[in-house]
Parts: sequence; structure tokens; C-alpha cells
Amino acid sequence: MHDKHPLQRTLALQLGTAILAALRLSCSAPAAEPLPPSQPATFGDELALGVALDLSADPNVLEVNLEARLGDVELVPGKTTQAWTYDGGVPGPLLRAKVGDRLLVHFKNSLPEPTTIHWHGLRIPAAMDGVPGHSQDAIPPGGTFDYDFVLPDAGTYWYHPHFASAKQVGNGLYGPIIVDDPLEPEGLGDELILVLSDASVAADGALHPADNGGSLGTLFGREGGMLLVNGRINPTIHARAGLRQRWRIINAARSRFFQLSLPGHSFTRIGGDGGFIATPEVSTSLALAAAERADVLVEPTKTASDVEPSEQALVLRWTPHDRGFGTAFMRTEEDVLHIEFANEEPAQASPLPELRRLIPELDPASATLVDISLTLNQRDDGTFSMGINGVPSWEAEHVKATLGETQIWSVSNSMAWDHPFHLHGFFFQVLDVNGVAPTVREWKDTANVPVDGKLRFIVNFDARPGMWMFHCHILDHADAGMMGMIRLE
Ligand code: C2O
Ligand code: CU
Repeated sequence: MHDKHPLQRTLALQLGTAILAALRLSCSAPAAEPLPPSQPATFGDELALGVALDLSADPNVLEVNLEARLGDVELVPGKTTQAWTYDGGVPGPLLRAKVGDRLLVHFKNSLPEPTTIHWHGLRIPAAMDGVPGHSQDAIPPGGTFDYDFVLPDAGTYWYHPHFASAKQVGNGLYGPIIVDDPLEPEGLGDELILVLSDASVAADGALHPADNGGSLGTLFGREGGMLLVNGRINPTIHARAGLRQRWRIINAARSRFFQLSLPGHSFTRIGGDGGFIATPEVSTSLALAAAERADVLVEPTKTASDVEPSEQALVLRWTPHDRGFGTAFMRTEEDVLHIEFANEEPAQASPLPELRRLIPELDPASATLVDISLTLNQRDDGTFSMGINGVPSWEAEHVKATLGETQIWSVSNSMAWDHPFHLHGFFFQVLDVNGVAPTVREWKDTANVPVDGKLRFIVNFDARPGMWMFHCHILDHADAGMMGMIRLE
């Protein structure tokens, strides 16, 4: 109902070109223009996402029903997994609208326990933010809640529960949100949305209990052994060699980091958590801490030595990222997805439209300093919690902020594990990580704090008073107490 899928847009454009060409042919009969090459018809078939039905006739409103419920899905081929789902799918349906639209979600909780929805990255009013006890009461089994807000920023976001988050997200509750900017340049590439996650399932399809591995599991952050892209193991993209693709990647895993590479290729990163970055950035590997997003362009091609195109498949690889104490040794490389080439002539690479976003630098001159330390808190009886400044979230004092205030946060990590730090409701700009400034300016809502490291960022609390949460997005850590609240008034 809203913006067309770019592939559809491309097809529509091609149709238009074809009609024009035919018209011209019937008038003066010049040489027919060749159609621009396109992706195979099966391009993104294996990555199809559920789409929520838009109940509103207003083109500026996306109104949907959404139900959290147990549902049977096929994760292990041929086996049934009873997952926790939005509308029966893992991931939940794609919510897609354009910037400035109103999103209205009639939510029903049909899970056996309370839940809420948090709209990760969206700068919406505190009352819509989904944090139980602060934004709203947890929605009991059988309960309903209407989420209703305007989508303020274009970009790639996601939604997930904020009640028993590690368990509920780990059991399958997460879904993508795309906010389109109708004014963005055309021709960025044929788009795919990649919701990356993992699942803890046995060979017979049964979900492992959410607290498997005991307190050590909590300390490490639980990773599922099965890597998932849009709920599927190792799906295949059917591509035309040389044609640019645009991947909107969301790391929706409860703990796992994704470090990705495509042998022989580079990624052009054009966007991050909060929409486009200031200028595109080219790299050969892409690292996404838990909850981070990336908007990247890739031009998969066959190698020159390739003679039998149908035999060639490129593999997007997951490589272990050391996020602390032994996590790099727990796993070896894994395949994320395959790219298979259609048996056609490779397309000529098309020039990239100019992408430049003016992101004003937040002024540090008048900023207030906030010092936070992410800690492991051990008690005399041997039990532990994780937290901020030595205490778990339930004992912590609120950080104070006043409307309009700019703050510089210094987040240090005294633990032997990384912590991806997430701030609700506001974007920040990273100043430095361990003293090293980022190479490109961008709006972030999640940034990794490495082992024994320090993250400094600047944030302006421009509007929207209320209680705002910050926490580690290794959800096992958050549930163990590594969360805090900001009182903004
Ligand atoms: Cu993804 Cu508290 O959030
Ligand atoms: Cu953590």
C-alpha cells in the first residue's frame, strides 16, 4: 500500500521504458533501447518476509493488527519448532511505511506470560516505548495495547519485547521496521532485508530452555547454535552477476555478534542505526554487535576463472568476533547465505548515485558529563548480578537530564566481556571508542563497549520528557541487571 518494493519499482520503471520505446518505435522507428538488466524473478524468494496487512485507507497511516502467540515454525528442515512468534512467523511481519507516517499497531498478547513491544531505534514518545514499569504496564496474557506514533526518521529498525527480553527474543519474538524516505536517490540497488538471528534448538526441533547453561550462560550471553536469516538456515539469493544489491541488515540475536564477509568483495556501507551515514564507507568486513543495523551495497560478481556460471555460488561468511573471554573460540566460521548466479551475461556495474548526508556535529562546549561503568557485581554469598556502577538496575539511581540538555557519556567496561550499549528514544554520536574517533559521522542508538574499554558519545535530549532506558543489548546481561533509567524532565 505504501512505497513499492524497489524491485517492483525497477520492474515498473522497466515497463515504462519499454512502453516509451514501443511508442517511439511506432512513430519514427529508431533503434529500440535495450532494457536495463534486472535480477532473476526468483531473486529474493527465499528471503521473503511476512507483511502486515494495512487496515487504513489513508496513504499516510500504516494500521495493523499484531498478535504475539506461540506458533509452529520449521527451523530444522522437516521438524516443527514451537516458537514464540508475532503473527505466527519468525521473524515477525515487516512493518514498512514512509517517514512522517503514523504507525498504529493494535497489539494482542496471546503468549502464556506478560509482554510489551519496544520499537528499537524509533524516536517516539516515552509512553510508546514499551518499557514495563516506566512507559506502560506489562500487557498480561490475553491483554491488548494500541501503539500509536509518528515515524520520525527514515532508516532500518526493529521491534521486540521488553519483558523477559532474553527469553522472549531468543524464542523468536523480533521483526523488522523499514521507514522509507521518498526523496532518497533512485538506483541504490535491488533491496533485500536480512534479519539475522540465531536459535537454540535441538535436532528434533524443540527449543532449548531460555536459561540453559545456568549462570555461566548468562555471563557469556547465550548464542543459539543455528544461524538464521529471516528465519531460514543458509538461504540462497538468486542474482544477476554485477548488479548492485542493497542489503538492510538487522542483528536481532539475543547475544550473538555478526562479523560478515563476502570473499573477493567489499561492502559499501551507506546507512547504520539511524538512517544514512554522512558519506559511504567501503570495507571488506562488516561487524554488527547485538541490535545494530547496517544498510550496505554489494555487487556480487563471478570470478574471472568462472566458466560454468551455474556451479558458482558465493557464500556470505560469519566469522567469530572476540567479544570477550573465550567467545571467539566457541565457534568456527559459518555460512550465512549463498548467492547463486543466473545463467546470464553479467551486467555492467552502474554508477552509484551521490550519497551525502549533512549530520550536524553536536556541540560539546556546554555538555554535561555523565560517567557510567558497566560492572559485574559479586556478593559475599557468591551470587552475582551485572549492572551499572556496581549495582543492578533494580537498585540503581536514575540518571537525570533536562529537556534540551546535551550530555557526554563516558561508558567504561570493567568486565571481560563486550557490552553493546543501547540508549532508548534518542540517537547519539560516538566521540570515540578507547580514544579512537569514528571515521564517519552517523546517528547511533547502539554501540559496542569492548572488554576493558571505554565508549564516549554525545547526545542531545531535545524533547520527549519521561523515563528512558539504557542497557546492554546482550539481553542475558540486561536481564541480569545491566540496565539503567534516565529521568528526562
Ligand atoms: Cu532493543 Cu531496550 O532494546
Ligand atoms: Cu553486556
